[in-house]
Amino acid sequence: MTEYSNLISSIEESKTLAITSLIKRLQAEGKKILSFSAGEPDFNTPEYIKSAAISAIRNNQTKYTPVQGTAKFIESIVEKFNKDNNLFFKNENILVSTGAKQSLYNVMLALCNPGDEVIMQSPYWVSYPEITKIAQAKPVIINTDIKNNFKIHPDQLKEAITEKTKVFLFNTPSNPTGTVYSKSEILDLAEVLIDKDIFIVSDEIYEKILFDGEKHFSIGSIDELKNRTVTINGVSKAFAMTGWRIGYAGGNKDIIKLAKNLQSQSTSNASSISQAAANAALNGDGKEISKMVEEFNLRRNYIVKELQSIEGINCTTPKGAFYTFFDVSNYYNKSFNDFAVIDSISFCNYLINEANIGLVPGVAFGNDNCVRMSYAASMDDIKEGISRLKEFLLKLN
Ligand SMILES: Cc1ncc(COP(=O)(O)O)c(C=O)c1O
Repeated sequence: MTEYSNLISSIEESKTLAITSLIKRLQAEGKKILSFSAGEPDFNTPEYIKSAAISAIRNNQTKYTPVQGTAKFIESIVEKFNKDNNLFFKNENILVSTGAKQSLYNVMLALCNPGDEVIMQSPYWVSYPEITKIAQAKPVIINTDIKNNFKIHPDQLKEAITEKTKVFLFNTPSNPTGTVYSKSEILDLAEVLIDKDIFIVSDEIYEKILFDGEKHFSIGSIDELKNRTVTINGVSKAFAMTGWRIGYAGGNKDIIKLAKNLQSQSTSNASSISQAAANAALNGDGKEISKMVEEFNLRRNYIVKELQSIEGINCTTPKGAFYTFFDVSNYYNKSFNDFAVIDSISFCNYLINEANIGLVPGVAFGNDNCVRMSYAASMDDIKEGISRLKEFLLKLN
């Protein structure tokens, strides 16, 4: 047999998608697993968005669109960036893609050459290192600590930069930690980047899901960085539209053109119907988002209070997104019957098999001391899940 691609063979399956399919398989076999592994809102796509999609179908907006996206949607994105993010783009600065994941993928491939280094923090979103490797670049990881709410200190960024650094990949609010960087913290990081020849790719997909009065700030709005920052966003999280697959990038027109050329030779345009729906989403009044965020906030408050009351768990308060990422390493090297817990994977396996609750091992995000619990689940399930968690942690000796 001839060899398969070395590059693609080195790419791991998304660990979060893998755990979600394991949970679905066990559920299909009849096990009553309560899953807290979801990376998507448990709410339905709002009716006004669905209606826009139905109208698009009825009006035969079912053909290819320009690769870059429909003129109408691009205009809405330009306006959104202007209104929400202080980013002043023209149409040529925007590329619509099949999910923010493809936006990231296109942009990283447009920026990186073999041997380039891409700085990102750990915990990171699972796909960052793998997309970096597909772009033939090397992930350079800055480890952050739960003590500092998983935030990078500017000195750490300074130390990580070498002459090979091509991109600083930044994500706030963060998946998996829910960490939100304030404007002043971002300005401090920007200080380090200003006189360096480095691109910034800023993933802001959770920008609308914020708590405790936090405000989102876009690093690309800093004058000295705006020409070399690409901002990634999409409708998956804010509008409960994960299945519609619409993301977009805004940045320097030369980078966007390269990303567009790449997309033109792979998937062409994102779905015409989904673009019409996403256009309606961006032009809505935001009431549905507020309702969703209010509900997430109630769940977050409950979970954090409960987790912080469990001896042996170290949990900070997430300020955005819909995840808690907490340290369970005090339970390592303990066991129940024949089940030994030694790391985040065995911890999660123990809970899936014994307690019927699904969490995601922190190692998937580059931190083996922690696990991720999503609160994109009903309050009843959360209460039941926390109670099972408490019960089964007590059994570990
Ligand atoms: C941090 C982060 N960026 C990007 C994405 C990709 O989103 P999309 O559904 O638009 O591809 C996700 C999805 O989980 C995410 O958590």
